[in-house]
Amino acid sequence: MKEKQDILREKLALSKQGGGQARIDKHHKGGKLTARERIEKLLDPDSFEEIGALVTHRTKDFGMADQIYYGDGVVTGYGTIDRRQVYVFAQDFTVFGGSLSETHAEKICKIMDLAMKVGVPLIGLNDSGGARIQEGVRSLGGYADIFYRNVQASGVIPQISAIMGPCAGGAVYSPAMTDFTMMVEGSSYMFVTGPNVVKTVTNEEVTFEELGGAHTHASKSGVTHFTADNDLECLRQIRKLIGYVPQNCEDKAPKLAFDLKEEYREELETIVPENAQQPYDMKDVIAGIVDEDSFMEVHKEYADNIIVGFSRLAGRSIGIVANQPLSLAGVLDVESSKKGARFVRFCDCFNIPLLVLVDVPGFLPGTDQEWNGIITNGAKLLFAFSEATVPRVTLITRKAYGGAYDVMNSKHIGADVNYAWPGAEIAVMGAKGASEIIFKKEIKAAADPKAKLKEKEAEYASLFANPYSATERGFVDEVIFPRESRRKLIRAFSMLESKVASLPKKKHGNIPL
Ligand code: HXC
Repeated sequence: MKEKQDILREKLALSKQGGGQARIDKHHKGGKLTARERIEKLLDPDSFEEIGALVTHRTKDFGMADQIYYGDGVVTGYGTIDRRQVYVFAQDFTVFGGSLSETHAEKICKIMDLAMKVGVPLIGLNDSGGARIQEGVRSLGGYADIFYRNVQASGVIPQISAIMGPCAGGAVYSPAMTDFTMMVEGSSYMFVTGPNVVKTVTNEEVTFEELGGAHTHASKSGVTHFTADNDLECLRQIRKLIGYVPQNCEDKAPKLAFDLKEEYREELETIVPENAQQPYDMKDVIAGIVDEDSFMEVHKEYADNIIVGFSRLAGRSIGIVANQPLSLAGVLDVESSKKGARFVRFCDCFNIPLLVLVDVPGFLPGTDQEWNGIITNGAKLLFAFSEATVPRVTLITRKAYGGAYDVMNSKHIGADVNYAWPGAEIAVMGAKGASEIIFKKEIKAAADPKAKLKEKEAEYASLFANPYSATERGFVDEVIFPRESRRKLIRAFSMLESKVASLPKKKHGNIPL
């Protein structure tokens, strides 16, 4: 028996060695943690249970029979984050560049299936050169098996992907189908094909960083939702993110214990400037409403004319979608509509109530927007809100103009409670533009057209540049003082906690992709 136990001990020890000390040293020199170190830092101390430590690859081609690494380049298993169960896989770049073989894929699929059965989040720590070239179609099949499960799991359990090294080919498509992607600055890259192939095919010269670095995907493509300075920061952010999301689609959003006081916030009274043309930072409004330091912004560097992120209100996890007057006056355009829609759908999948803060002058006009499909893309946000059945509360802080009024969680598309501040302006368009159109003849015929325009502008503004026309019709439930916003919102979300709503029976909707 002792001998048999020694065999096991030896195999387990080998499985912990990855691709060998030399490769581990190289890995550390690049500022990266190993797969096992990452799992250790991600999970609560001593909570990890490994599955499949002794799996090895099957291929014998290209001298692979002599290169056996226990675990086959990926560490898989389960553990806890803040005592809540999660499944995790971490690819080991020291073994064949973390590339995906048939058996490596089987290990990932096994824990994906378990995570689905048990109903807990799946976290993938990706660090992989893509399909293992020596295995040909078997590795491609392995990827497809994972992709298929990513899609089956979508909307059932939260799926989070960290990109912690160079990820190429298939290694980027699985993260793309998960809910959130997080990249490490300076050491992680995502691309379908690397700079060398790009040079051969298109003759473009581009660096790894420019083509698929963290900054590129955070600001240009929007492929990554978060960036982190290093491995540790990345893992810390995943732990934080997990704190906002439920275990699965049938679970409620997490709620921390909270000691409620009177909850008035005087600082909210002075954020919006008197002059409606002057910008202000909607993040100040968010900070004045939510629990202290609880806002975790998603897609921070992408389409910053809209803000999305998680927060807490009296301890309860909520999702926030807010126009940002500081950037492009908070207008809706192609990118911000896509960004908003994606976030709304995530929150709706996982029972996270939505708070929508509105200050929007409308959709961005122009050929660039039209040719890039502002119609289809704007419709994504409209569709996402209209479809969402989670508790939905809107607060109009200033402008709500045109189609964007409808889109930004208006009562008409299913919002549950709609508030406006006293300075809100809710109309088809701004007073100047509206007067120029509807009083065109009168202005032209006037002795002083400029004075006439001003007079008509004032007339229009007094009728529509306020929240009362909408409130009289019930489109806005209540005009509230800024200082009482937090208190009102806490009460509204608390009242909505037992909301039950469902969509008409269907296979699935057809969101304009
Ligand atoms: C087998 C691989 C590998 C792969 C890397 N390695 N990628 N082994 N299959 N796909 C091995 C290397 O041979 C090397 O082994 C070790 O991993 C480290 O790789 P390096 O090249 O030395 O590292 P680095 O310079 O950091 O470059 C990392 C890299 C590069 C950018 C990821 O290795 C690379 O370009 N790899 C190939 C990427 C690729 O084209 N993959 C196939 C994509 S097709 P040694 O023994 O020297 O340590 C695909 C299809 C799926 O994925 C499609 C689904 C839609």
